[in-house]
Amino acid sequence: MSRTIWWDLDHPDILDQTLLPFEARVLHLHSLEAVAEAITSLRVRGAPAIGVTAAFGVAMAAIQAVSMPDSFSQTVLAACDRLAATRPTAVNLFWAIERMRTVLDSDPYPSRAAPALLREAQAIAAEDAAACRRMGELGAALFGEGDTLLTHCNAGALATAGIGTALAPMYTAHQQGRRFHVYVDETRPLLQGARLTAWELHNAGIPFTLIADNMAASIIRAGKVDAIFVGADRIAANGDVANKIGTYGVALAAHTHGVPFYVVAPTSTLDPRTADGDAIPIEERRPEEVRGVRGAAWVPDEYFIYNPAFDVTPASHVTAIVTERGLVRPPYPEGLRAVLAAGMAVR
Ligand code: MRU
Repeated sequence: MSRTIWWDLDHPDILDQTLLPFEARVLHLHSLEAVAEAITSLRVRGAPAIGVTAAFGVAMAAIQAVSMPDSFSQTVLAACDRLAATRPTAVNLFWAIERMRTVLDSDPYPSRAAPALLREAQAIAAEDAAACRRMGELGAALFGEGDTLLTHCNAGALATAGIGTALAPMYTAHQQGRRFHVYVDETRPLLQGARLTAWELHNAGIPFTLIADNMAASIIRAGKVDAIFVGADRIAANGDVANKIGTYGVALAAHTHGVPFYVVAPTSTLDPRTADGDAIPIEERRPEEVRGVRGAAWVPDEYFIYNPAFDVTPASHVTAIVTERGLVRPPYPEGLRAVLAAGMAVR
């Protein structure tokens, strides 16, 4: 299993996901700006992984600021603000930063606060890994021997500090010796499916077939898909799900053809403060990402381009949400409130 984000003596390290699958290069993030840049440019991406990276970034900023006690709290809070401004949609980012702020508030004395902040970041990472394992167990029970699954984007180990969310049931079932096949949407424009999910499944020895995004609906209509598993960047209080652009189209096809559509996400992805999907901020990214690839353009610069990075799937199209605290089925407002109230981190 590839490592995505980890602490290395006095700074976070990440695997640079922009270079995969052709190169597995580790990046040492020694400054707050390097951490922010890594998140913004998707060197590290996926909702839980972004949260863990930001937490480590805040811990590093605190450790670097211990020698300046007069400005310590101010520096750490500025680091929180800087990292919160990197990406708007994945709520795990804000959830993790909030946890770091709470630790600072509880004891801002620099030589105690800095190690406490590092411990909190490490706890966030460890809890995420445990949540992934539990979601894997719960999700693996949702499909049968010989089934064909479909997934969109990358919600695997690369997107978390563990074995992933949507891919966790697949890793678990594979470990149990079960047989199944996965259709992987390539996921335009940045190809997280083709570059990252396919790389993960290939490395794990899980049989898969890569498809272009525009093939999914007709494959679903043809009865070739038994269940769909996707991750989430933010789940609103009513159960609406923001995830990588293109997820909604897959959900529409699944709904029309009676195929179960499962969202696998830890409780850190639930946002009870956002009422519904319309209130979820959707990140809009640079036109260059649609215009071409790795600096090479296939359309002229003057064409107008729209590049929303996420879409919203209405709760009505979600069969169940798999969290580390159990499965939530409709009606979602009550079920989501209940898993949040269940408290208790999974370790
Ligand atoms: O833009 P990305 O690559 O960060 O988008 C990632 C996704 O949309 C994932 O499906 C989501 O974050 C869940 S990852 C467990």
